[in-house]
Amino acid sequence: MNKVEVFENERATGYNQFVETWIPNYHYFLDRLPKLLSDTDQKDLLVVGCGTGNEIERFVKAPEQWTITGIDPSPEMIKQAKDKLHFYNKVSLIEGLVSKLDMEKKYSAATLLLVLHFLDDKGNKLNLLKDIADRLVSGATFVILDITGDKKQIQQNLKVLKLLLPEGLDEEQINNRLNRIGNELFTVSEQRLSELLQEAGFEAPLRFFQSSIYMGWLTKKK
Ligand SMILES: C[S@@+](CC[C@H](N)C(=O)[O-])C[C@H]1O[C@@H](n2cnc3c(N)ncnc32)[C@H](O)[C@@H]1O
Repeated sequence: MNKVEVFENERATGYNQFVETWIPNYHYFLDRLPKLLSDTDQKDLLVVGCGTGNEIERFVKAPEQWTITGIDPSPEMIKQAKDKLHFYNKVSLIEGLVSKLDMEKKYSAATLLLVLHFLDDKGNKLNLLKDIADRLVSGATFVILDITGDKKQIQQNLKVLKLLLPEGLDEEQINNRLNRIGNELFTVSEQRLSELLQEAGFEAPLRFFQSSIYMGWLTKKK
């Protein structure tokens, strides 16, 4: 069984504004995703934890014709994705966990953006990564965006994040958010993330993007 971090009520309705405020360069990262994954011949993409469909929106607008499966366990998030994307016939949106997807079907690429830091390293991170690896062809490209770093690195980067946030935010709100990131999320070091990926069946990952605590990782299924 995989742990689920449920996004509901205000956390779901206010999600898009939340990411824009708190993740510097989030849109830049999303905009570049289709290009990053464009080296695969087959264009069959699995978007894990697709939330409101932010990353899928980029793929439907890309010149390559992607067939896209988005999956997310939070009903209120996937509903927003469905409202936004229902008229694209190459997009399927599923409410649930990756483990429920048929293992016969293999995808040529996958993304996992802003999900892993909600799952503990007592089995839940590894289970999710294995569930994804089991549904990819050998050589499939896999992109992760996650809060990464050991305790010291996260604390140092949280100070940088504070400087990168938009003007006019409430100081108490900023401190609460930074405290939550530093103390309540299940962040792991770069080394540990690499170990987890390799244990799940991926190659050692490349860190290709960083915006303070948020790191982008590229790897391939072995
Ligand atoms: C911060 S949102 C990220 C949404 C989207 N990837 C984006 O970048 O906008 C995290 C999402 O992960 C989903 N989630 C929670 N637990 C999960 C799990 N075990 N497996 C996959 N997704 C999960 C939540 O429902 C939520 O929609």
